[in-house]
Amino acid sequence: MKKKRLAIVGASGHGKVVADAALKGGWDEILFFDDAWPELTEVGVWQVIGNTRQLQEQAVCFDGAVVAIGNNMIRLDKQYELEQTGIQLVTIIHPSATVSPYSVIGKGSVVFAGAVVNAFATIGIGCIINTGSTIDHDCLLADGVHVSPGAHLGGNVHIGKAAWVGIGSSVKQFIQIGENVVVGAGAAVVNDIESGLTVIGVPARAMMKRL
Ligand SMILES: CC(C)(COP(=O)(O)OP(=O)(O)OC[C@H]1O[C@@H](n2cnc3c(N)ncnc32)[C@H](O)[C@@H]1OP(=O)(O)O)[C@@H](O)C(=O)NCCC(=O)NCCS
Repeated sequence: MKKKRLAIVGASGHGKVVADAALKGGWDEILFFDDAWPELTEVGVWQVIGNTRQLQEQAVCFDGAVVAIGNNMIRLDKQYELEQTGIQLVTIIHPSATVSPYSVIGKGSVVFAGAVVNAFATIGIGCIINTGSTIDHDCLLADGVHVSPGAHLGGNVHIGKAAWVGIGSSVKQFIQIGENVVVGAGAAVVNDIESGLTVIGVPARAMMKRL
């Protein structure tokens, strides 16, 4: 049988976890691309063989690609750029994740080990559902959202584009979180959050900028 080859864009720590999940999830061969190539030639046990342009030129050699860049907006922009050139963006789901067949997960999103995506949750494109996080029923996550390790979203939580929910935080059911919001590590979100804010603490409140 033909080997399934995956291209990962972004040779970072996050990229290594995506590679590991992809191999466990049925991909046979992983090759990395990064705009720091040719200075950067390896990541973990994998080779970096080109930059984004090289990937576009070699697209037919791959069965799929995924963008593994931690920054939410940069990841999304790179994904849009690749989609326009006709590269097949794929979703990577670690086999130990529990994903409801009644949920929808967008192209280029990754769901890591131990994560749970419950019934009727909808996850946009280019999202990161990180290790051990949980997304409960009817949640709606826009494109480019990152739910960090061990973060928990109650049912019907809505999250705007490119928002980042920090490690170990919790979001109460029915909460609305705007675009580009950052929820700090360990926060407990019990009120809606306007776009662009960073919130911290229990209960979560807007972080004051130091003058
Ligand atoms: C909220 C956050 C974005 C703020 O980052 P920052 O602007 O660089 O803030 P600083 O580290 O300079 O900290 C500023 C102050 O806020 C406090 N603070 C920072 N993050 C906090 C948090 N999550 N909860 C409570 N207080 C926090 C710091 O202790 C510091 O307090 P001080 O002024 O009294 O010393 C960041 O700390 C955070 O929590 N990021 C999420 C990390 C994460 O989830 N990583 C997972 C990767 S997969």
